Amino acid sequence: MGKINAIRGMNDILPDQSPTWQYLERTTARILHGYGYHEIRMPVVEQTDLFKRSIGEVTDIVEKEMYTFEDRNGDSLTLRPEGTAGCVRAAEQHGLLYNQVRKLWYTGPMFRHERPQKGRYRQFHQIGVECFGLSGPDIDAEVLLMTARLWKALGLTPHVRLEINSIGTPEARRAYREALVAYLSDYRDELDDDSQRRLETNPLRILDSKAQHTQALLKDAPVLADYLDDESRDHFDGLCRRLDAAGLEYAVNPGLVRGLDYYGKTVFEWVTDSLGAQGTVCAGGRYDGLVSQLGGKPTPAVGFAMGMERLVLMLESLDLIPDSVNDRADLYVLGMGEAGEAEAARLSEHLRDAMPDRMILTHCGGGGFKSRMKKADRSGAAVALILGEDELSGDTVTLKPLRSGEEQRTVSRSELTETLAGLLSPVSESTA
Ligand code: HAM
Repeated sequence: MGKINAIRGMNDILPDQSPTWQYLERTTARILHGYGYHEIRMPVVEQTDLFKRSIGEVTDIVEKEMYTFEDRNGDSLTLRPEGTAGCVRAAEQHGLLYNQVRKLWYTGPMFRHERPQKGRYRQFHQIGVECFGLSGPDIDAEVLLMTARLWKALGLTPHVRLEINSIGTPEARRAYREALVAYLSDYRDELDDDSQRRLETNPLRILDSKAQHTQALLKDAPVLADYLDDESRDHFDGLCRRLDAAGLEYAVNPGLVRGLDYYGKTVFEWVTDSLGAQGTVCAGGRYDGLVSQLGGKPTPAVGFAMGMERLVLMLESLDLIPDSVNDRADLYVLGMGEAGEAEAARLSEHLRDAMPDRMILTHCGGGGFKSRMKKADRSGAAVALILGEDELSGDTVTLKPLRSGEEQRTVSRSELTETLAGLLSPVSESTA
């Protein structure tokens, strides 16, 4: 029988990649904590209607990309294509939004049946952030400053840029949609196929079209900014002023409309040129209508999600992973003979008490001295600890530095931890 492979577009994250993932997760969690966000964990599966009612019936995600199935009770369930809908559902269901500000974040796999390519997968991972209960541009600005702080911590600042836009209230968008459709209808035959279809279903998404001729036609089209309601315009101006005051650079992209229906007012994307076609690493905006649309009390909200695979790809390709991010052993303890092996096991336990953040490998599996030293070397450990007959009788340990080229030395047990502290570099990022 043939081997069974993973499903196309669904990747294993292998042991040599997971330290980078952990570094990204740890750095993000630290920064979110610093702004008062708390983690929430939602199920991966929800009722299909949750996504239809929030993301919107005529979006790419709901029309073409959801993993939807009937469970054994005949209910229609869907693997979550994103986290905002489930987060609102959970927060509302547990009364977290009642008369208070809530700052929540989540991480985990999302599922979309898209055509896989670099940076685009069918199972991918997001870290998402949602802030409920604040309606002003001050929190929009704070959310963007928080993302900027993350890029700085990761060394990504020179490689990403911020695009923002306002898409106004549903009424403003309706008026604009009519004007856009009226204009584009005269050029219907010249539009790309997708845009022709969208003219009927979701005309604002035509602004996002990658087709050159469509973009050329859009040059003289009515612009959304001219249709904005006063409140949305004030809100957007307030956001721009705050970003200017904070010194955060951005570009206003009037064509930025986002592909999910729940947004209103502020929308934004952080994009990079270093990933090819899939250049959006973080995206979000304001969605003041969603909580009430899902049955809750009207609650303003703003949030975003970032694509972990894309960020990991960037960290790897731009060589931004700190040396200290690794899963290498610190010490390799090997004893010769039965008494030596027993002593090696005992000493290792003692060292794990004394230095709980270190990776300490105790040789198992026998073999001669040479093969044991080879394994010590291959483990990546900084120092091998050797317990042979001489060491046992003298109550000493021989330390052989494996990376630094320093001479090996034999020390008494009482000097051991202090000597090791001098030989090991500070506890690595991946364990601290
Ligand atoms: P989204 O733009 O659909 O927004 O996804 C956010 C990010 O997830 C994208 O910018 C991208 O980095 C990553 N992403 C999306 N699809 C894929 C894929 N197929 N493969 C790899 N990465 C992908 C949302 O999901 C909203 N829930 C964001 C939000 C939160 N808005 C308000 N709160």
